[in-house]
Amino acid sequence: MKSHSPMTNDIKHAMASFATGVTVITATHAGQDFGMTCNSFNTVSLEPALVLWSLRTASGNRAHFEAAGGYTVNILSHTQQALAMRFTKGLHAERFAGLDLARLPTGRSQILGCAAWLDCELERIIPAGDHDILLGRVLSFGVNADSKVEPLIYARRQFGKLSI
Ligand SMILES: Cc1cc2nc3c(=O)[nH]c(=O)nc-3n(C[C@H](O)[C@H](O)[C@H](O)COP(=O)(O)O)c2cc1C
Repeated sequence: MKSHSPMTNDIKHAMASFATGVTVITATHAGQDFGMTCNSFNTVSLEPALVLWSLRTASGNRAHFEAAGGYTVNILSHTQQALAMRFTKGLHAERFAGLDLARLPTGRSQILGCAAWLDCELERIIPAGDHDILLGRVLSFGVNADSKVEPLIYARRQFGKLSI
């Protein structure tokens, strides 16, 4: 494994102060679901509705996401911390095992119980250093109707929930 320079470690330490939500990005290719935890997700444009997230170029998932031509952003709720860890490792079939899923019109899977979700067509892959930015156009989305479902938060390398 490549070791990071002191500068890279300092940047990672600084960025850890930037609190984010946590998503599991899912996609389907050749009849197989795959997915991974991601906190680089963000909004880009409202008209048209565009979003992005970044994927490590070294990730074994890169080719799958490119071939799938789209992805679903599952914005995790504060009760789904275990899912966040489950989608960081192991076989993809095992990541999805036993999960309550809805099948979207695009064929992609949406994880039930999330705070919100967005189903996106892959608009463009933009190379950016050791990551690729996956720009997506939002095709459909939904928000959990239960107002008690709060988003999962990630900051300082820890999971938490809103206390506002
Ligand atoms: C909170 C959190 C956020 C993450 N965000 C990203 C991300 O934005 N981009 C990324 O490439 N990996 C991210 N990861 C790591 C991936 O989830 C992990 O490398 C991936 O699931 C490994 O899958 P693979 O073994 O199939 O390559 C994150 C992990 C955690 C715990």
